[in-house]
Amino acid sequence: MTPDQQTSTDAEDHVRIFDTTLRDGEQAPGFSMDRRAKLRLAHALEALGVDIIEAGFPQASPDDFAAVSEIAGMLRNATVCGLARCQPGDIETTARAIEKAQRSRIHVFLSTSPLHREHKLGMSKQQVIDTAVRSIELARGLCHEVEFSAEDALRTEPEFLVEVFNAAVAAGATTLNAPDTVGYTTPGEMGELFAYLRRHVQGADKVIFSSHCHNDLGMAVANSLAAVSAGARQVECTINGIGERAGNAAMEEIVMALKVRAPHFGVDTRIDTRKLYPTSRLLSLLTGQNVPRNKAIVGENAFAHESGIHQHGMLKHRGTYEIMHPQDVGIAETKLVLGKHSGRHALRSRLQTMGYTPDDAEMENIFARFKALADKKREVHDDDLEAIALGHDPEAVGPWHLVQLNSSSHLGGSASASVRLSHEDGTEIGEAAIGDGPVDAVLRAIERATGTPLELTNFQVRGVSEGGDAQGQAQLTARNQDREWRGQAISTDIVEATALAALVIVNRIARQAPTTGTHPKVQGAVA
Ligand code: KIV
Ligand code: ZN
Repeated sequence: MTPDQQTSTDAEDHVRIFDTTLRDGEQAPGFSMDRRAKLRLAHALEALGVDIIEAGFPQASPDDFAAVSEIAGMLRNATVCGLARCQPGDIETTARAIEKAQRSRIHVFLSTSPLHREHKLGMSKQQVIDTAVRSIELARGLCHEVEFSAEDALRTEPEFLVEVFNAAVAAGATTLNAPDTVGYTTPGEMGELFAYLRRHVQGADKVIFSSHCHNDLGMAVANSLAAVSAGARQVECTINGIGERAGNAAMEEIVMALKVRAPHFGVDTRIDTRKLYPTSRLLSLLTGQNVPRNKAIVGENAFAHESGIHQHGMLKHRGTYEIMHPQDVGIAETKLVLGKHSGRHALRSRLQTMGYTPDDAEMENIFARFKALADKKREVHDDDLEAIALGHDPEAVGPWHLVQLNSSSHLGGSASASVRLSHEDGTEIGEAAIGDGPVDAVLRAIERATGTPLELTNFQVRGVSEGGDAQGQAQLTARNQDREWRGQAISTDIVEATALAALVIVNRIARQAPTTGTHPKVQGAVA
């Protein structure tokens, strides 16, 4: 360990986890979330123990602004952060978006590398410094704390980076972030840069140094950990490592590396690691993107020991092939099977073992769905429970509900489906349609019944548990009025799962654009 490496194991000393899943992660293709999904994830991130949640980029769109503002009003413990370019309009918009936060942070960023200065900004070094200073000074008066990011810091002249950071500290920034924007650096270089910054930036002991690594060369986590070893006390990362291009540093990997290798790093985070797996699964559900099986910490194979030699070793002593316990990250070790005679208490306690802590209202809904499933399926496994617990979106209920569904298909012929839906205004409507397969027929019938056109752009079905009576999860993406909408649902019947997922989308569209009075189709029907 060099003299610049952080050696303190002081209980107060900890690595702040700055989660940017809702900003850098969400802006990556395939990972966009609607407002309710963002709120749900923000809630889970706070329960996970994240210190700072970057909730979005409020100037990007009215939707982003609204999501950041709702998150700021909802969270109690985490600092809520909004991203802003070094422009007065961005900074003022961001300040308004986060004004309700218990603790608010504006994150201003400006490129500092020669390539970006010349080709992106067309600014001299002095102009970069002046712009950063003006922006930080403006932001400082509008929130509790200001973070400054020197975009493309790892390709910036280190002496100039020190100059910029000196000016940033003098202007009032309390967190200095050195992003590896293009995922170019190596752990050795990262360590050297952070050690250099801590030696040369004036007032280095009064600010927090932060890393923000992209994964273009697969080194984002290693680079983040190298920064921590060299004194960084904030790490910017995302759940499942989602983010621009090859992604950002994966939070679960950084957190578990610091925990499992505690004697090596000598500094920990405040994350409740037993919530890592449930949070990873929630993100996967909300974005409709599966986690690769072999993904470290949260992949399906992360704790599976298939080879005979490994299994033999594990039976003799777990430590032979296991460096952490599945329970440490929220994967329940023992598989307990529940059935139709299991009560609320057993269900709640099983959910808790699995890292889910629903409130009373959510528990009622989960229990009802559990009972309905137990009636259809003799054994309810952990995977089933997880699907029920995650799939329960209190906001995704109504105005439409599925009352009845019939579908039939014939080899070589068209398929037909009929649905009966109820609306929360008390009306019921039935429609039938034919289609190119039962899924298409069901979607057409729902379109007709609700008067909501759905252009299907993606459709996936996967089994969520084992056995012939396994539940299937349907994930749909559909376009409606130039927007993509995503819905997912589970059932032991995949056509029903598809219908329910389509209704999630229809309901989201209906809530986004409420009609005055009843919906057009029912108005027509009752007129
Ligand atoms: O990668 C990057 O440089 C960023 C900044 C906005 C922090 O995401
Ligand atoms: Zn980034």
